[in-house]
Amino acid sequence: MDFAKRRERVRRALQRAGLDALLVSSPLNVTYLTGFTGDDSYLLFHRGGEVVVSDPRFTVQLGEECPEIDLHIRKPGVPLTSALARVLRWAKAGNVGFESDAMTVGGLERLKSAAERTTFRAISGIVERLRAIKDADEVAAIRTAVDCAQRAFGVVRAAMQPDKSEKRVADELDYQMRLFGARQSAFDTIVGVGPRSALPHCRPGVQPLSASGLVLIDWGACVGCYHSDLTRVVATGKIAAKLEHVYRVVLDAQLRAIAAIRPGVSCCDVDAVARAIIERAGFGSRFGHGLGHGIGLQVHESPRLAAGSEAVLRAGMVVTVEPGIYLPGVGGVRIEDDVLVTRSGSEVLTSVPKQWEDIHMAG
Ligand code: GLY
Repeated sequence: MDFAKRRERVRRALQRAGLDALLVSSPLNVTYLTGFTGDDSYLLFHRGGEVVVSDPRFTVQLGEECPEIDLHIRKPGVPLTSALARVLRWAKAGNVGFESDAMTVGGLERLKSAAERTTFRAISGIVERLRAIKDADEVAAIRTAVDCAQRAFGVVRAAMQPDKSEKRVADELDYQMRLFGARQSAFDTIVGVGPRSALPHCRPGVQPLSASGLVLIDWGACVGCYHSDLTRVVATGKIAAKLEHVYRVVLDAQLRAIAAIRPGVSCCDVDAVARAIIERAGFGSRFGHGLGHGIGLQVHESPRLAAGSEAVLRAGMVVTVEPGIYLPGVGGVRIEDDVLVTRSGSEVLTSVPKQWEDIHMAG
C-alpha cells in the first residue's frame, strides 16, 4: 500500500485548511497513513515531516511496519499528553488541527494544559474522506475479506440442522471465518430465527432453527485490517406466502438499487430507489435504516447510503447495499451485498446466491 502517497494527500489538505500541523489520533487513520497496526500512538504532521508518538510496547512493531516514519517513543511514566506537548514544541507547531471525532473532551483539555502556547483547531473528516475511495490494494483486501466470509458461510450453511441454535450457527461462522484467515469477525455475527429475524440486529440466543421459517444471518470477516459484510436469509421450512412476498420485494429493491450505482450519483438517490420500491409495496414504515454504508478499515465508514446523505458516489468506493423489511412478531428479511463503484458503474463483490429458489436449507 502506498502510505507516502496518502500522507502527501493529507499534507495538501492541511495547506488548504491553513494549518501548520495535524495530530492524527484515530488509530485507524494512523494505520491508513502509516501501515502501523498498533494503538495508543498519534501521528503528527508538522512542517518538517511526520512523527509517530508512541511508547516502548510498539518500538519494534513500528520499525517493522513503517520504518520510514520518525518516532518519538515516550519513556515509561511519561503521559502521552506530555510527550505530545514536547513534540509540538520541538516541531514549532503553533496552529494544530486535531481530529475532533477521535479525541475525548478530557484528552483535549489535558493536551491544552500541557501545550499552553499551541492553538488547537477541531478538524473532522480529512482522512476519512480519503479513506472513502479505495485504491487497488484496498479493493484486493476487501475481496479477500469477502472470500473468507463466503467460504465460511458455505461450510456452515451445508451443516445447518434443525436442532442447532442461533448462537451455535453464529459461533460456527465465527470459527470458520477464522479458519479461512480472518483475524476476527467484522462485527458480532447476527442470527435470528422466525419472528426474531425481525430484529435487525438480533443477538444470537438459544432458539433452535427448527423454531423458524426464515433465519436471518448477517456476518462478515475482518482479514488483515479490511472488512466484508453480508446478509442472507435461509428458509428452513415452508414459508408463509406473505414472507415470500416480502423476500421478493426486498430482493427487487436491492437489485434495482445496485443497478443505480455509478460514479456521480448521490448516495441519497440510491437509497431512494430501494425505498420507493419498498414503500410502493406497502412496507415503507418497516424499512427503518439506511440502505448501506462504506466498508474498509471499518465495517461502517463513509459514505452513507441513506436519505439525506449528500455524498456523491465515486469510483473506488465500496458500499454495502442492504434493504430490509421487518414485521414485528412475524419475521424479517434483509439482503446485503458489498458493491465496488467502478468507472462505468459497479461490480458486486459478493456472490452468495440470493434468488428465492436458492435460499431453502434443503435445497
Ligand atoms: N451488518 C452489520 C452492520 O452493518 O452493523
